[in-house]
Amino acid sequence: MKKNLILTGMMGVGKSTIARLLATKLDRKFLDVDNLIEKNEKTSIKKIFETNGEDFFRNLEKKTTLQILKKNNVIIALGGGAFINQVIRNKVLATCISFWLDMKVTELNKRLNLTNKANKRPLLLKKNYNDLDKIYNKRKKIYNLANFRINCDKLKKEEIVRKILNIYENL
Ligand code: S3P
Repeated sequence: MKKNLILTGMMGVGKSTIARLLATKLDRKFLDVDNLIEKNEKTSIKKIFETNGEDFFRNLEKKTTLQILKKNNVIIALGGGAFINQVIRNKVLATCISFWLDMKVTELNKRLNLTNKANKRPLLLKKNYNDLDKIYNKRKKIYNLANFRINCDKLKKEEIVRKILNIYENL
């Protein structure tokens, strides 16, 4: 039985992309919690926030994430706020190998393209660089509780995957 590998970190850092690549390399299943929530609810995260609010979403996120964490042998991309929840975090820390994909806010800001009207991330709707910086600064101490921090600044996705695999294979 192999422990799950968990990716956490800010919106836009590439958790889902990296998790998918890792899963291919390790020949394991990849699960994206946000995708599963959208599948289960038959609607988008954005719509869930609009219709039912953030607290409702956080409850769904907690329920779905804890359900997924019962599995073994999988690679999981968490939603950006999931690790902030103490119950989810404690479960992850007790049972999985976790990686914080970290990236400078200036870089995240470029990738998230906040002025784009098609922004799918409800927390960033009509928000700017300073808002993103605030979220990052509030969360970074908590993300830092993950087992490993990967500084993704200036790294290509293949290099990020290699770093994670290198850590994992030397455990
Ligand atoms: C959130 C991140 C999103 C999604 C929701 C809230 C957050 O996931 O769960 O919009 O609080 O950081 P991604 O990190 O995959 O964008």
